[in-house]
Amino acid sequence: MTVPTIAMDPQAIRDAVRERYARAATRTSGCCAPAPEASCCGNAGPDPCGGEVPVAFTDGRALPGDLASASLGCGAPLEAAALRPGETVVDLGSGAGLDVFFAADRVGPAGRAIGVDMTPEMVAKARANRERLGIAQAEFRLGEIEHLPVADATADVVISNCVINLLPDKRPAFGEAHRVLRPGGRLVVSDIVSREPLPEAYRTAERWTACLGGAIPEDEYLALVREAGFEAVEVVARRPYADGRLFSVTVRGHKPVRA
Ligand SMILES: C[S@@+](CC[C@H](N)C(=O)[O-])C[C@H]1O[C@@H](n2cnc3c(N)ncnc32)[C@H](O)[C@@H]1O
Repeated sequence: MTVPTIAMDPQAIRDAVRERYARAATRTSGCCAPAPEASCCGNAGPDPCGGEVPVAFTDGRALPGDLASASLGCGAPLEAAALRPGETVVDLGSGAGLDVFFAADRVGPAGRAIGVDMTPEMVAKARANRERLGIAQAEFRLGEIEHLPVADATADVVISNCVINLLPDKRPAFGEAHRVLRPGGRLVVSDIVSREPLPEAYRTAERWTACLGGAIPEDEYLALVREAGFEAVEVVARRPYADGRLFSVTVRGHKPVRA
């Protein structure tokens, strides 16, 4: 039987993504929970539980165990972001909020960390986690990253972890990241890319929503980042992911100081 592909219908992709991550948000255990899904963002990779989460806050406080396993990322954008106290950070597709909490920790009370996610259940979960952790400078907004609910030129850093591959059209997310960054601001995104254009068989709802089917070749991905206006664009980390066609990258770029 042929499984129908969804790549030509952006609204179907968006609906399927929102539905999958609403289910992921309401699971009580982490990403590696058994049925209905073995993992949320990738299967059979070297790290099927998702991204790398820092182990502790700067004051030595450890992340509660259930939160540590809530990461659905595929890289470590914060490592390459080199956050400084007082900075404002925006996380595209913030999920349960882990990268936002660690960003908020790094920028301190004088800074801000804003997570944006389109799945109401994820935003609710992130807000509940914020209450548990008591991190005042973390904030979560419901919205699509193609239309960021963030004012122009107000962020020092935009991060994202395993989200942009899920978009039917990746271009608007990079454009929005550029818009909200101040001149000289930096973009650091971890994501799944492919070695070559993926065969049509990858374009099923299951594979797309698992961060596999929407991946594009690395050179196309970097071209989109540059096209949005970023300069000094570089891959700062690569690691194997899922099958041999796909891998995870962390990409960094800078908004020019002068337009
Ligand atoms: C694989 S999870 C990653 C979550 C988080 N970044 C992490 O590392 O745990 C993808 C997240 O992106 C969100 N998402 C997907 N497409 C989005 C869009 N167009 N706008 C906003 N959020 C989106 C989903 O709701 C989900 O929470």
